[in-house]
Amino acid sequence: MGTKIIGTGCYTPERVLTNHDLEKMVDTSDEWIRTRTGIEERHIAADGESASDMAYPACIRALEASGTSPDEIGMIIVATVCPDYPFPSTACVLQRKLKVSPGAICLDMQAACSGFIYALDIVNSMVKTHPSLKKALVVGVEKITMLTDWEDRNTCVLFGDGAGAVVLEARRDSQDGGGIVASKLSADGNFTDILMVKAGGSAMPLTKEVMDQRLQYIRMEGQEVFKQAVNAMVGACKEVLQEAGVTSSEIRWLIPHQANRRIIEAVGKRLNLTEENVFINVSRYGNTSAASIAIALDEIARGGKVERGEYLLLTAFGAGLTWGATLLRW
Ligand code: UT7
Repeated sequence: MGTKIIGTGCYTPERVLTNHDLEKMVDTSDEWIRTRTGIEERHIAADGESASDMAYPACIRALEASGTSPDEIGMIIVATVCPDYPFPSTACVLQRKLKVSPGAICLDMQAACSGFIYALDIVNSMVKTHPSLKKALVVGVEKITMLTDWEDRNTCVLFGDGAGAVVLEARRDSQDGGGIVASKLSADGNFTDILMVKAGGSAMPLTKEVMDQRLQYIRMEGQEVFKQAVNAMVGACKEVLQEAGVTSSEIRWLIPHQANRRIIEAVGKRLNLTEENVFINVSRYGNTSAASIAIALDEIARGGKVERGEYLLLTAFGAGLTWGATLLRW
């Protein structure tokens, strides 16, 4: 018993910010950004565009792709660090917008950039204890540029906004054998300080003093995060492959969280994968946090880049620190 992805969708905002645009905003260069990160451009949400505004079209596309009507959805889980409101959840806001029936389970969850694979695993587990749960929407969405300090060249060149969604269907028999095969999730709170937004929560509410110090924005020790990211994702991928009895040569696509091309290539190399098997779209979107794997999945599915029965290995890493890997059979 488990779940299978039966439809995908994504959405990215209309406005595109290129590296050349950033050259006019901070002391940086297109050359530095491309060689250090692989990023060329990113999408930026409009001022009034919320997480649920971006998630909505992504969900509609996933519903259409899977032939699912909103009243079949029994659960919405939204992975985000940029909810519409402190409460109610963005999932409840989306439930109303999508006209998903009252009674559905709706929640947001926060595991930073690892949020989407955490959310997949939660639904995959919940179908086992909720027999009436047949189909769920799993969403990764971020308006991460609202947490971006546009005066800090160390971070402002890295991030972009967007949303991705999948419809997960409960599979109570083997059917075509597709679905989530194995998953490994982890966190280590000893590393909270190396990637965080200090202010804006209960520990440090927003005050003028706090905002003058720009503590409402992302701060990151890039090199330390880089080092941890590669080791953690490689470890998690090896664990799920071992658990499933699958070798890396059987993987059609490694779909890593899209933070930095060099991180992605290092992970691929350490898993003995060739570049034909490592999916990279960071050049066009930057780091969209919890949305990145969901956007990548939609591009792979819509682009006809995966055949039924092929293995996809998703892996993510983010603030917390959180990380993990999920092996899927398409
Ligand atoms: O999604 C959550 C997970 N996040 C990540 O995975 C991000 C992980 N880290 C990274 O991707 C990389 O560490 C960065 C892309 C953030 C930075 O790359 P780096 O190769 O680690 O550069 P660095 O931080 O060591 O900085 C090298 C130099 C510094 O100058 P000095 O001290 O050598 O003179 C920086 O000040 O590059 C400078 N620098 C820049 N120069 C031009 C930093 N940012 C920029 C910039 N443009 N935007």
